[in-house]
Amino acid sequence: MTAPDSGATPASPAAWEPKVLAFCCNYCAYAAADLAGARRMQYPPNVRLLHVPCTGKVELEHILEAFEKGIDGVLVAGCLEGGCHFLEGNLRAKRRVQRVREILDEIGVGGQRLLMVNLSAAMAPTFVERVREIVETVRKLGPNPLTTVKPEGAKSE
Ligand code: FES
Repeated sequence: MTAPDSGATPASPAAWEPKVLAFCCNYCAYAAADLAGARRMQYPPNVRLLHVPCTGKVELEHILEAFEKGIDGVLVAGCLEGGCHFLEGNLRAKRRVQRVREILDEIGVGGQRLLMVNLSAAMAPTFVERVREIVETVRKLGPNPLTTVKPEGAKSE
């Protein structure tokens, strides 16, 4: 599994809009997102959904790769605790998310850019709320610092 490339070079600060990737598990989170769409609930268009079988399949590397590729924020959305269809996938995901948040803090990207939410398939309003929350958090933090770091030896413009 490879996180999608966020695109090209960062836009000018005035035109910048947060890019958020949401890993959504098949059984509950994706269904909640789908329900939000069916009910025509509005949420920021900045989020791209990545359908995964279970949040337990989302490895540290997948989240870090998304940030490396320029995503500004990541939401990991899975089933309610005790409700994972693969028993403990969401509990493993919770531990990984916590570890990645620590790594993001250590490297100066900011752990607040990563959020986990647990949902049932009927919790469309909570899905929408959490999407708005991560987009607003990222908007306040600004662009992913990794997109503004120049490789060693690069000439400034
Ligand atoms: Fe939803 Fe595991 S199946 S988190």
